[in-house]
Amino acid sequence: MKDIQKVHKASYTNRRAAIFDILLKDILDRPSVRILEIGVYLALNIRYAMEKFPSIETYMGVDDYGKFRGSPYVGPTKYWANRKESHQAYEKAKAIFDQYGQELRRETSDAFFKKVDKSQKFDVVFVDGNHKYDYALRDMKQFYELVADDGVMLVDDYDNPDTPDVTRAITAFLNEYLPTIKRIEGVRLPFINSVKVVPISLVILALHKGK
Ligand SMILES: C[S@@+](CC[C@H](N)C(=O)[O-])C[C@H]1O[C@@H](n2cnc3c(N)ncnc32)[C@H](O)[C@@H]1O
Repeated sequence: MKDIQKVHKASYTNRRAAIFDILLKDILDRPSVRILEIGVYLALNIRYAMEKFPSIETYMGVDDYGKFRGSPYVGPTKYWANRKESHQAYEKAKAIFDQYGQELRRETSDAFFKKVDKSQKFDVVFVDGNHKYDYALRDMKQFYELVADDGVMLVDDYDNPDTPDVTRAITAFLNEYLPTIKRIEGVRLPFINSVKVVPISLVILALHKGK
């Protein structure tokens, strides 16, 4: 199974390049950029971004790393087999954030949103946390409030056959918020899910706020 994956992966578009070099290019050319990422996982995005774009002043991350009871991310065939593994993942990601002098908050997006000062704005908010319909839609609606007037909200997993809830949530979000969005861009990324051999794809969308 692994050999089949290897053969195909060589031709894949780089996910980080799609996000930062294509979708966020214009924003990162600004003199000072504030980024919020909801759902950080291995902290690969911050590492790529901070090494390449000196314009980034703030990169805040929020991820509960399976902390709340009954997390769908901890268990056999999930992101982490048990709580020990999820804690280790948090520690590793935290070390990366610390290295760049940035803040990683270990809490759910809802808990973070309740506390956050709503006047704090970000040029980029990347919503990539819980992929169930209600959570995905609520995250988009809540965190859109923190996007600066000329900022952008990135959403992952549109048209990913493994996450139909996210596609539905994005459609519902756009039905309501389209009048406040001036431009929508997307990059389609082919990939192979780690537990499957069939290549599939998803679209990362950039929703640019403005009229
Ligand atoms: C798909 S991964 C994020 C991938 C990352 N954005 C990237 O591009 O590499 C989803 C992450 O969201 C986190 N997550 C899931 N539900 C969450 C919630 N309600 N609040 C905060 N983080 C959550 C999971 O722990 C997991 O690390």
